[in-house]
Amino acid sequence: MTSLAGHRYVFDNDSTHSDEQHRCLAAAYDPPTTAALAATGVGPGWRCLEVGAGGGSVAHWLADRVAPTGAVLATDLNPRHVRAAPGLTVARHDVTRDPLPEAEFDLIHARLVLLHLPDRLAVLDRLVRALKPGGWLQLDEFDISYGPALAGPDLPLYERFLTAKAELMEAAGALGTWGRSAGAAMTAAGLEAVEASPHVWTWDRNSPGLHLLVHHTHHLRDKFLAFGFTDDDLTRVRAVMADPAFRACSCVFYTVRGRRPA
Ligand SMILES: C[S@@+](CC[C@H](N)C(=O)[O-])C[C@H]1O[C@@H](n2cnc3c(N)ncnc32)[C@H](O)[C@@H]1O
Repeated sequence: MTSLAGHRYVFDNDSTHSDEQHRCLAAAYDPPTTAALAATGVGPGWRCLEVGAGGGSVAHWLADRVAPTGAVLATDLNPRHVRAAPGLTVARHDVTRDPLPEAEFDLIHARLVLLHLPDRLAVLDRLVRALKPGGWLQLDEFDISYGPALAGPDLPLYERFLTAKAELMEAAGALGTWGRSAGAAMTAAGLEAVEASPHVWTWDRNSPGLHLLVHHTHHLRDKFLAFGFTDDDLTRVRAVMADPAFRACSCVFYTVRGRRPA
């Protein structure tokens, strides 16, 4: 799936690994995402747009919140993992180029989507225009430039793995530090009351955020091989992350919220 000529989104929702990807994302990041969404006051009657809905867990959370009179539109380049539900409409949609209604939504949310899109600032402008006056935009995005290993065996291998992952994502058009600049970009796009909250965790082998990285060793295996890793390296880095002594600081996960002026 291509969003701009020459750039391909690295994770494929048709992959046999994508159910696991969406399970890991929901387990690791739904708690901070939904806590920040709840702070907007989202409730019955709101019209919401969930962009790049992935496995659909946040779209379902929103549909429950806005019931019985509200509505949620969940879109994705490939929405095959989003279950239909009362109050929830699912649509195949490329946010970089398919039409979006103007001034339609009380709340728009996108998690770990704009990070992957080379034309993210143009997408941000489109999302701002799709908000009603007074409507909220929340972007949840990583800064993967920080995330040191803290304890355990073969930490240089883990750090080399993180570097290769950052490089292969950037080669596909992602911006690994987007989380840190999303707030300033939202202000520049005309939103007000913009607040960016960074979240970091200590990861061990039981952490859902770390399980997402383990999953990447499978889902992105071919790309790791193209970036200098071998299958043996991938097996060894999985063993590092499964070690009881392993500890790492997570990457930084930003929840960023702002409002279209009323
Ligand atoms: C990293 S996943 C995140 C999924 C979900 N937002 C979450 O955080 O659990 C990124 C999602 O964005 C979708 N996506 C990528 N490019 C897109 C585009 N141009 N338009 C709409 N969705 C897109 C992908 O198909 C994928 O489901």
